[in-house]
Amino acid sequence: MAFFNPEKFTTESVEKLKTELSDKAIIAASGGVDSTVAAVLAAKAVKDSLLAIYVDTGYMRVGESEYVSSMLSELGVQHKVVDASEQFYAGLKGVIDPEEKRKIIGELFIRVFEKEAEEYGGKFLVQGTIAPDWIESGGGLRDTIKSHHNVGGLPEDMDMVLCEPIRELYKDEVRSLAEYLEVSVSQRQPFPGPGLAVRVMGEATPERTEVVRQACHIAEEEMELASKEGIMELPWQYFAVVLPVKTVGVQGDVRAYGNTIAVRAVHSFDAMTAKAAEIPYSVLKKISERITRELKSEVNRVVYDITDKPPGTIEWE
Ligand code: XMP
Repeated sequence: MAFFNPEKFTTESVEKLKTELSDKAIIAASGGVDSTVAAVLAAKAVKDSLLAIYVDTGYMRVGESEYVSSMLSELGVQHKVVDASEQFYAGLKGVIDPEEKRKIIGELFIRVFEKEAEEYGGKFLVQGTIAPDWIESGGGLRDTIKSHHNVGGLPEDMDMVLCEPIRELYKDEVRSLAEYLEVSVSQRQPFPGPGLAVRVMGEATPERTEVVRQACHIAEEEMELASKEGIMELPWQYFAVVLPVKTVGVQGDVRAYGNTIAVRAVHSFDAMTAKAAEIPYSVLKKISERITRELKSEVNRVVYDITDKPPGTIEWE
């Protein structure tokens, strides 16, 4: 395979986008590396006729919306933050099946964009789809492993022209491109399009989402701290999921019946395969103690996932 050259890719991509985006465009900016890189490329091509839409689905990480908004401002990308959380919570009410969740989220995303695009007068929809997204969504002869929200959820009647400037790239290539473009999120861990909805096993209610949001935050903080202190290497991706099983525990001398959190951390190169990270026991212990203390009324058990990909996937849904 030819060595990836970010400078050459940028020049060629921007030139192509100048022709392709012949009218106003909106960008699905999630704050992740993929969509931010796509946003910067498109902004370089057609600065003033581009609007980045950041949708707060209610399934975002702690502080995410503020972080993304200030990052886009720094990058000079024209943007708008849309709080659609109520709409997403309503859409996922009673939904348990992972594929159904992904499809519903994908569709809602596009509906929100369509509405915003209409207001803005956008004719093009730019997306940060990368190669593993469409390969794993059942490209060609492959089986559908998961419908990635930016592929599987696209409704057939979408009336914007889709533009995917980085769809041939793998994660490591996107990261080197991000570094070249001086995008500060280049080393940030990936975050799935459907967000925390796929980290709540079963129905992603606002309450259970809040539990996993806080658990993810604790897992992130502790692993980032430990890696800063040189205790461990920062994994490629690290987070928590909340399981649909309750277990018996004890709080003080009272019986408790609470949720189980699974912590996941993996090393990977391109997300196609991954190795469960060997996190130092002291770090895992601290994460477990913090989660069961700070989420005392909801969680009384924490487990660590040691499955590689394959046979597991990185996310649990
Ligand atoms: P899995 O769980 O399939 O995930 O091993 C591989 C990588 O992709 C992320 N992921 C997604 N990214 N839309 C995305 O843009 C999605 O629907 C989606 N689902 C999973 C996941 O976090 C991991 O980095």
